[in-house]
Amino acid sequence: MKKLRLWVKLLFLFLIVGGTYLGVKSLKKENISEESKSVLKENNIPLEKYSKTLEFVLDQNLYNEKYLDQYRDIEYSDKNNFKDVINIFLDKGYKGKEINYIMNLSNKNIDKLKNVDYIDIKDYYSFKNFDVNNVNRYNLYREKHSKYELKDIVTYVNIKLDLPVYTDTLEAVDPSDLLVLVNKYNSLPKNYKPSGMEQAAGHYGNNVPMRKEAKEALEKLQESVKKEIGITLLPTTAYRDYNFQNTLYTGYVSKHGKEKADTYSARPGYSDHQTGLAIDLKNPAIKTNVRLNDSDYEWLHNNAYRFGFIIRFPKGKEFITGYQFENWHIRYVGLDVAKIIYENDLTLEEYIDLYVTEY
Ligand code: DAL
Ligand code: ZN
Repeated sequence: MKKLRLWVKLLFLFLIVGGTYLGVKSLKKENISEESKSVLKENNIPLEKYSKTLEFVLDQNLYNEKYLDQYRDIEYSDKNNFKDVINIFLDKGYKGKEINYIMNLSNKNIDKLKNVDYIDIKDYYSFKNFDVNNVNRYNLYREKHSKYELKDIVTYVNIKLDLPVYTDTLEAVDPSDLLVLVNKYNSLPKNYKPSGMEQAAGHYGNNVPMRKEAKEALEKLQESVKKEIGITLLPTTAYRDYNFQNTLYTGYVSKHGKEKADTYSARPGYSDHQTGLAIDLKNPAIKTNVRLNDSDYEWLHNNAYRFGFIIRFPKGKEFITGYQFENWHIRYVGLDVAKIIYENDLTLEEYIDLYVTEY
């Protein structure tokens, strides 16, 4: 008895599923216009090969019999580059499914792809910061760093971590941009000096020049840190010009050697301090060379963003920033950006690549 009931149930299920399938199939066939049917017939194309893309291809006189099976895999798109993409990339050897990936790329990337022979992009096309020009480098970096996630590999290669430091360097186009990136691959013009800098009272009784935006934010930070954990934070240095950085760096090199100096000091023209937006802080209550206590840093780490600052050389990110952890060096980037960087545990390098650079 039980067995019989099971059979009846299965029969019903079969009828429902089968019925739906046939219904959908006939509906699909009905959607093909008589006109399209006759075009298919004229070209000796069986009806089951029909797809909206095939219809488009026939209509645009792009049809090539050898791509018949690919057309079915290509999702129809009404973007105006659709025709161009089908036309160019099938001939380069891309399959139908890959044409769908290509349609998801930026125009900039599509243009780059047009100029090269077939490359396999299936692993990368979905990343917003994917750069067609870097595919070979992604693949090489991936072989060497299999522990990294693919999304990180794309970012790390984009920010040039696969290249030796101080190679392939670029000079900032807009040095006064609040988000200007200065690191071992990105420099400032030798004679760049931010305009309209202001002086803040420094730890050594000195006047510390910095950009107005940084100074105003620093004052708010100083007020809050005093109120919230009862300490004073004073700047020791902020803006440093090319020549001053040169003196510092060469001094460190003669003391510790180039390799060591490069782990904690920027070469002239490559220092975040030349932006006028970086500030080194010190708690003057600490009478040694130590700049901040762990608890001071704990506050700074979790609150700097409220004033538009980031920790520029964070712990654990040394391989990205190229510098040892500096708990005292903050960099002004503005409130919104600082919040994103803090909440997502990013470096400025990663932020620029993920949120600013257009690929
Ligand atoms: N200490 C930082 C890296 C600089 O020299 O700019
Ligand atoms: Zn610094």
